[in-house]
Amino acid sequence: MNSSLDFQAVLDDIVHTLQPEAGREGKVASYIPALARVDAHRFGIALRTCDGHEAVAGDGDVPFSIQSISKLFSLTLAMRHMPEAALWARIGREPSGNPFNSLVQLESEQGKPRNPFINAGAIAVADRIVELYGADARGTLRGFLSHLAGEPIVFDEEVAASEAATGHRNLALAHFMKSFGKLDHPVAEVLDLYFHQCALALSCRQLARAASYLARDGAHPANADEQVVTERQARRINALMLTCGTYDAAGEFAFRIGLPCKSGVGGGIVAVVPDQLTLCVWSPALDATGNSHLGMKALELFVARTGLSVF
Ligand code: DON
Repeated sequence: MNSSLDFQAVLDDIVHTLQPEAGREGKVASYIPALARVDAHRFGIALRTCDGHEAVAGDGDVPFSIQSISKLFSLTLAMRHMPEAALWARIGREPSGNPFNSLVQLESEQGKPRNPFINAGAIAVADRIVELYGADARGTLRGFLSHLAGEPIVFDEEVAASEAATGHRNLALAHFMKSFGKLDHPVAEVLDLYFHQCALALSCRQLARAASYLARDGAHPANADEQVVTERQARRINALMLTCGTYDAAGEFAFRIGLPCKSGVGGGIVAVVPDQLTLCVWSPALDATGNSHLGMKALELFVARTGLSVF
Protein backbone atom coordinates (compact mmCIF):
# COMPACT_ATOMS: atom_id res chain seq x y z
CA MET A 1 0.00 0.00 0.00
CA ASN A 2 1.26 3.46 -0.85
CA SER A 3 0.91 4.92 2.62
CA SER A 4 2.03 8.37 1.57
CA LEU A 5 -1.31 8.98 -0.16
CA ASP A 6 -4.06 10.76 1.75
CA PHE A 7 -7.03 9.10 0.03
CA GLN A 8 -9.66 11.17 1.81
CA ALA A 9 -7.99 14.34 0.53
CA VAL A 10 -7.81 12.88 -3.00
CA LEU A 11 -11.54 12.01 -3.01
CA ASP A 12 -12.53 15.38 -1.48
CA ASP A 13 -10.53 17.10 -4.18
CA ILE A 14 -12.17 15.04 -6.95
CA VAL A 15 -15.64 15.94 -5.64
CA HIS A 16 -14.64 19.59 -5.29
CA THR A 17 -13.34 19.64 -8.87
CA LEU A 18 -16.10 17.67 -10.60
CA GLN A 19 -19.30 18.20 -8.60
CA PRO A 20 -20.03 21.52 -10.39
CA GLU A 21 -20.12 19.59 -13.69
CA ALA A 22 -22.62 16.97 -12.47
CA GLY A 23 -25.59 16.63 -14.80
CA ARG A 24 -24.18 19.06 -17.38
CA GLU A 25 -23.20 16.42 -19.92
CA GLY A 26 -24.71 13.04 -20.66
CA LYS A 27 -28.20 11.76 -19.92
CA VAL A 28 -29.75 9.80 -17.06
CA ALA A 29 -30.97 6.39 -18.34
CA SER A 30 -34.63 6.78 -19.22
CA TYR A 31 -35.47 3.45 -20.83
CA ILE A 32 -36.25 2.10 -17.34
CA PRO A 33 -38.80 4.65 -16.05
CA ALA A 34 -37.86 4.24 -12.36
CA LEU A 35 -34.25 5.18 -13.19
CA ALA A 36 -35.25 8.32 -15.08
CA ARG A 37 -36.34 9.96 -11.81
CA VAL A 38 -32.83 9.95 -10.31
CA ASP A 39 -31.30 13.40 -9.73
CA ALA A 40 -28.60 13.94 -12.38
CA HIS A 41 -26.64 16.20 -9.99
CA ARG A 42 -25.73 13.39 -7.63
CA PHE A 43 -22.02 12.65 -7.42
CA GLY A 44 -20.43 10.24 -4.98
CA ILE A 45 -17.14 8.42 -4.61
CA ALA A 46 -15.68 5.95 -2.11
CA LEU A 47 -12.75 3.60 -1.79
CA ARG A 48 -11.61 0.80 0.45
CA THR A 49 -7.98 -0.17 0.77
CA CYS A 50 -6.94 -3.80 1.07
CA ASP A 51 -6.18 -3.22 4.75
CA GLY A 52 -9.74 -2.00 5.39
CA HIS A 53 -9.30 1.77 5.40
CA GLU A 54 -12.29 3.58 3.85
CA ALA A 55 -12.63 7.07 2.37
CA VAL A 56 -15.93 8.54 1.17
CA ALA A 57 -16.85 11.89 -0.41
CA GLY A 58 -19.90 13.65 -1.88
CA ASP A 59 -22.92 11.34 -2.18
CA GLY A 60 -20.79 8.26 -1.50
CA ASP A 61 -23.22 6.99 1.14
CA VAL A 62 -26.39 7.35 -0.95
CA PRO A 63 -27.73 4.02 -2.30
CA PHE A 64 -28.32 3.84 -6.04
CA SER A 65 -29.39 1.18 -8.54
CA ILE A 66 -26.27 -0.86 -9.28
CA GLN A 67 -27.67 -2.27 -12.55
CA SER A 68 -24.94 -4.02 -14.54
CA ILE A 69 -22.41 -3.80 -11.72
CA SER A 70 -24.46 -6.73 -10.34
CA LYS A 71 -23.06 -8.86 -13.19
CA LEU A 72 -19.77 -8.90 -11.31
CA PHE A 73 -21.34 -10.48 -8.24
CA SER A 74 -23.57 -12.93 -10.10
CA LEU A 75 -20.55 -14.14 -12.08
CA THR A 76 -18.58 -14.49 -8.84
CA LEU A 77 -21.39 -16.51 -7.26
CA ALA A 78 -21.55 -18.84 -10.26
CA MET A 79 -17.75 -19.26 -10.35
CA ARG A 80 -17.75 -20.10 -6.63
CA HIS A 81 -20.24 -22.90 -6.88
CA MET A 82 -19.95 -24.60 -10.24
CA PRO A 83 -17.11 -26.16 -12.22
CA GLU A 84 -15.60 -23.37 -14.29
CA ALA A 85 -15.40 -25.51 -17.42
CA ALA A 86 -19.19 -25.95 -17.34
CA LEU A 87 -19.68 -22.21 -16.97
CA TRP A 88 -17.32 -21.24 -19.79
CA ALA A 89 -18.84 -23.84 -22.07
CA ARG A 90 -21.91 -21.57 -22.12
CA ILE A 91 -20.36 -18.10 -22.05
CA GLY A 92 -17.42 -16.60 -23.93
CA ARG A 93 -14.65 -14.35 -22.69
CA GLU A 94 -14.15 -11.95 -25.56
CA PRO A 95 -15.12 -8.28 -25.79
CA SER A 96 -18.23 -7.83 -27.89
CA GLY A 97 -17.46 -4.41 -29.37
CA ASN A 98 -21.23 -3.92 -29.36
CA PRO A 99 -23.69 -2.17 -27.03
CA PHE A 100 -24.54 -4.05 -23.83
CA ASN A 101 -28.02 -5.04 -25.02
CA SER A 102 -27.15 -5.97 -28.60
CA LEU A 103 -28.73 -9.01 -30.24
CA VAL A 104 -26.63 -9.21 -33.39
CA GLN A 105 -23.78 -11.56 -32.41
CA LEU A 106 -26.08 -14.11 -30.82
CA GLU A 107 -27.45 -15.36 -34.11
CA SER A 108 -24.14 -16.10 -35.83
CA GLU A 109 -22.68 -17.47 -32.57
CA GLN A 110 -25.51 -19.98 -31.91
CA GLY A 111 -26.87 -18.24 -28.81
CA LYS A 112 -23.56 -18.28 -26.91
CA PRO A 113 -22.94 -14.80 -25.45
CA ARG A 114 -19.54 -13.20 -26.02
CA ASN A 115 -18.89 -12.54 -22.33
CA PRO A 116 -20.63 -12.54 -18.92
CA PHE A 117 -20.95 -8.75 -18.73
CA ILE A 118 -23.15 -8.03 -21.74
CA ASN A 119 -26.85 -8.59 -21.03
CA ALA A 120 -26.99 -11.91 -22.88
CA GLY A 121 -24.03 -13.21 -20.87
CA ALA A 122 -25.49 -12.07 -17.57
CA ILE A 123 -28.79 -13.75 -18.44
CA ALA A 124 -26.87 -16.98 -19.13
CA VAL A 125 -25.17 -16.59 -15.73
CA ALA A 126 -28.59 -16.00 -14.10
CA ASP A 127 -29.75 -19.29 -15.65
CA ARG A 128 -26.79 -21.02 -13.95
CA ILE A 129 -27.70 -19.42 -10.60
CA VAL A 130 -31.30 -20.60 -10.96
CA GLU A 131 -29.83 -24.05 -11.70
CA LEU A 132 -27.82 -23.87 -8.46
CA TYR A 133 -30.42 -22.34 -6.13
CA GLY A 134 -33.87 -22.74 -7.70
CA ALA A 135 -36.51 -20.65 -5.93
CA ASP A 136 -33.83 -19.33 -3.52
CA ALA A 137 -31.79 -17.75 -6.32
CA ARG A 138 -32.80 -14.15 -5.56
CA GLY A 139 -32.38 -14.52 -1.82
CA THR A 140 -29.01 -16.24 -2.25
CA LEU A 141 -27.64 -13.44 -4.42
CA ARG A 142 -28.93 -10.78 -2.02
CA GLY A 143 -27.45 -12.69 0.92
CA PHE A 144 -24.12 -12.96 -0.89
CA LEU A 145 -24.01 -9.18 -1.45
CA SER A 146 -24.93 -8.59 2.21
CA HIS A 147 -22.16 -10.95 3.31
CA LEU A 148 -19.63 -9.09 1.18
CA ALA A 149 -20.80 -5.61 2.19
CA GLY A 150 -21.07 -6.58 5.86
CA GLU A 151 -24.59 -5.17 6.17
CA PRO A 152 -28.08 -5.99 4.82
CA ILE A 153 -28.51 -5.13 1.14
CA VAL A 154 -31.98 -4.77 -0.41
CA PHE A 155 -33.63 -4.85 -3.82
CA ASP A 156 -35.39 -1.69 -4.96
CA GLU A 157 -38.66 -3.41 -5.89
CA GLU A 158 -39.90 -0.39 -7.82
CA VAL A 159 -36.86 -0.55 -10.11
CA ALA A 160 -37.23 -4.34 -10.49
CA ALA A 161 -40.90 -3.93 -11.49
CA SER A 162 -39.98 -1.13 -13.90
CA GLU A 163 -37.28 -3.32 -15.50
CA ALA A 164 -39.76 -6.17 -15.91
CA ALA A 165 -42.41 -3.91 -17.42
CA THR A 166 -40.05 -2.45 -20.03
CA GLY A 167 -37.47 -5.21 -20.52
CA HIS A 168 -38.49 -6.16 -24.05
CA ARG A 169 -34.92 -6.48 -25.29
CA ASN A 170 -33.93 -8.70 -22.40
CA LEU A 171 -36.98 -10.87 -23.09
CA ALA A 172 -35.93 -11.05 -26.73
CA LEU A 173 -32.34 -11.98 -25.77
CA ALA A 174 -33.50 -14.65 -23.33
CA HIS A 175 -36.00 -16.24 -25.72
CA PHE A 176 -33.41 -16.17 -28.50
CA MET A 177 -30.88 -17.99 -26.32
CA LYS A 178 -33.57 -20.39 -25.18
CA SER A 179 -34.33 -21.19 -28.84
CA PHE A 180 -30.67 -22.28 -29.21
CA GLY A 181 -30.99 -24.49 -26.11
CA LYS A 182 -28.62 -22.22 -24.18
CA LEU A 183 -30.93 -21.60 -21.20
CA ASP A 184 -32.13 -24.56 -19.13
CA HIS A 185 -34.74 -22.74 -17.06
CA PRO A 186 -37.93 -20.88 -17.95
CA VAL A 187 -37.27 -17.39 -19.32
CA ALA A 188 -39.61 -15.82 -16.72
CA GLU A 189 -37.67 -17.37 -13.83
CA VAL A 190 -34.27 -16.41 -15.22
CA LEU A 191 -35.33 -12.83 -15.97
CA ASP A 192 -36.94 -12.43 -12.55
CA LEU A 193 -33.48 -13.00 -11.09
CA TYR A 194 -31.77 -10.80 -13.69
CA PHE A 195 -34.20 -7.88 -13.16
CA HIS A 196 -33.81 -8.14 -9.39
CA GLN A 197 -30.02 -8.28 -9.45
CA CYS A 198 -30.00 -5.09 -11.55
CA ALA A 199 -32.31 -3.49 -8.95
CA LEU A 200 -29.98 -4.09 -5.99
CA ALA A 201 -29.42 -0.76 -4.25
CA LEU A 202 -25.96 -0.04 -2.80
CA SER A 203 -23.96 3.09 -2.05
CA CYS A 204 -20.43 3.75 -3.35
CA ARG A 205 -19.07 2.86 0.09
CA GLN A 206 -20.96 -0.46 0.13
CA LEU A 207 -19.86 -1.32 -3.42
CA ALA A 208 -16.20 -0.45 -2.78
CA ARG A 209 -16.39 -2.73 0.24
CA ALA A 210 -18.32 -5.56 -1.42
CA ALA A 211 -15.97 -5.72 -4.42
CA SER A 212 -12.86 -5.60 -2.28
CA TYR A 213 -12.18 -9.35 -2.66
CA LEU A 214 -11.12 -8.51 -6.23
CA ALA A 215 -8.21 -6.43 -4.91
CA ARG A 216 -7.42 -8.96 -2.16
CA ASP A 217 -6.59 -12.00 -4.32
CA GLY A 218 -10.11 -13.35 -3.68
CA ALA A 219 -10.10 -12.95 0.11
CA HIS A 220 -13.30 -11.70 1.80
CA PRO A 221 -13.32 -7.90 2.23
CA ALA A 222 -13.13 -8.10 6.02
CA ASN A 223 -11.93 -11.63 6.71
CA ALA A 224 -8.56 -12.71 5.32
CA ASP A 225 -9.27 -16.33 6.27
CA GLU A 226 -12.25 -16.64 3.93
CA GLN A 227 -11.69 -16.98 0.18
CA VAL A 228 -14.68 -15.60 -1.77
CA VAL A 229 -13.01 -16.99 -4.88
CA THR A 230 -9.52 -18.35 -5.46
CA GLU A 231 -6.64 -16.04 -6.29
CA ARG A 232 -6.71 -17.27 -9.88
CA GLN A 233 -10.46 -16.66 -10.17
CA ALA A 234 -10.07 -13.12 -8.80
CA ARG A 235 -7.38 -12.45 -11.43
CA ARG A 236 -9.66 -13.80 -14.14
CA ILE A 237 -12.61 -11.65 -13.07
CA ASN A 238 -10.35 -8.59 -13.11
CA ALA A 239 -9.17 -9.51 -16.61
CA LEU A 240 -12.79 -9.76 -17.80
CA MET A 241 -13.59 -6.40 -16.22
CA LEU A 242 -10.71 -4.78 -18.06
CA THR A 243 -11.62 -6.26 -21.43
CA CYS A 244 -15.44 -6.39 -21.20
CA GLY A 245 -16.63 -4.49 -18.12
CA THR A 246 -17.57 -1.27 -19.88
CA TYR A 247 -18.90 -2.76 -23.15
CA ASP A 248 -17.84 -1.08 -26.35
CA ALA A 249 -15.96 1.55 -24.33
CA ALA A 250 -13.60 -1.03 -22.77
CA GLY A 251 -10.70 0.05 -25.00
CA GLU A 252 -11.22 3.70 -24.11
CA PHE A 253 -11.40 2.86 -20.37
CA ALA A 254 -8.16 0.85 -20.57
CA PHE A 255 -6.50 3.69 -22.48
CA ARG A 256 -7.67 6.55 -20.25
CA ILE A 257 -7.85 4.82 -16.86
CA GLY A 258 -5.97 1.53 -17.03
CA LEU A 259 -7.94 -0.28 -14.32
CA PRO A 260 -10.42 -3.18 -14.40
CA CYS A 261 -13.83 -1.46 -14.24
CA LYS A 262 -17.48 -2.51 -14.22
CA SER A 263 -20.18 0.02 -14.99
CA GLY A 264 -23.98 0.11 -14.76
CA VAL A 265 -26.65 2.32 -16.32
CA GLY A 266 -27.53 3.57 -12.83
CA GLY A 267 -24.34 5.65 -13.26
CA GLY A 268 -22.06 3.64 -10.98
CA ILE A 269 -18.60 2.35 -11.87
CA VAL A 270 -16.51 -0.01 -9.71
CA ALA A 271 -12.75 -0.04 -10.33
CA VAL A 272 -10.07 -2.34 -8.91
CA VAL A 273 -6.42 -1.60 -8.19
CA PRO A 274 -5.18 -5.15 -7.48
CA ASP A 275 -3.38 -5.51 -4.14
CA GLN A 276 -4.21 -1.91 -3.24
CA LEU A 277 -7.87 -0.88 -3.22
CA THR A 278 -11.32 -0.86 -4.76
CA LEU A 279 -13.00 2.35 -5.79
CA CYS A 280 -16.59 3.20 -6.68
CA VAL A 281 -17.90 6.36 -8.28
CA TRP A 282 -21.51 7.35 -8.99
CA SER A 283 -22.88 10.04 -11.26
CA PRO A 284 -26.17 9.17 -13.02
CA ALA A 285 -25.74 11.00 -16.35
CA LEU A 286 -24.44 8.54 -18.99
CA ASP A 287 -22.50 8.88 -22.22
CA ALA A 288 -23.60 7.25 -25.47
CA THR A 289 -22.04 3.90 -24.49
CA GLY A 290 -24.11 3.68 -21.27
CA ASN A 291 -21.21 4.52 -18.94
CA SER A 292 -21.27 7.36 -16.39
CA HIS A 293 -19.86 10.45 -18.10
CA LEU A 294 -18.52 12.08 -14.93
CA GLY A 295 -17.68 8.72 -13.35
CA MET A 296 -15.17 8.10 -16.10
CA LYS A 297 -13.68 11.58 -15.61
CA ALA A 298 -13.46 10.98 -11.87
CA LEU A 299 -11.57 7.72 -12.37
CA GLU A 300 -9.22 9.42 -14.79
CA LEU A 301 -8.54 12.12 -12.23
CA PHE A 302 -8.02 9.54 -9.49
CA VAL A 303 -5.43 7.71 -11.56
CA ALA A 304 -3.69 10.98 -12.49
CA ARG A 305 -3.56 12.15 -8.86
CA THR A 306 -2.42 8.84 -7.34
CA GLY A 307 -0.43 7.22 -10.15
CA LEU A 308 -2.31 3.97 -9.45
CA SER A 309 -2.92 1.81 -12.51
CA VAL A 310 -2.27 -1.76 -13.57
CA PHE A 311 0.02 -0.54 -16.35
O1 DON B 1 -30.59 -4.98 -18.78
C1 DON B 1 -30.75 -3.80 -18.59
O2 DON B 1 -31.20 -3.09 -19.44
C2 DON B 1 -30.36 -3.13 -17.27
N1 DON B 1 -31.19 -3.56 -16.24
C3 DON B 1 -28.92 -3.30 -16.93
C4 DON B 1 -28.09 -2.74 -17.99
C5 DON B 1 -26.86 -2.07 -17.58
O3 DON B 1 -26.65 -1.54 -16.50
C6 DON B 1 -25.89 -2.00 -18.67
N2 DON B 1 -24.74 -1.26 -18.29
N3 DON B 1 -24.22 -0.30 -18.54
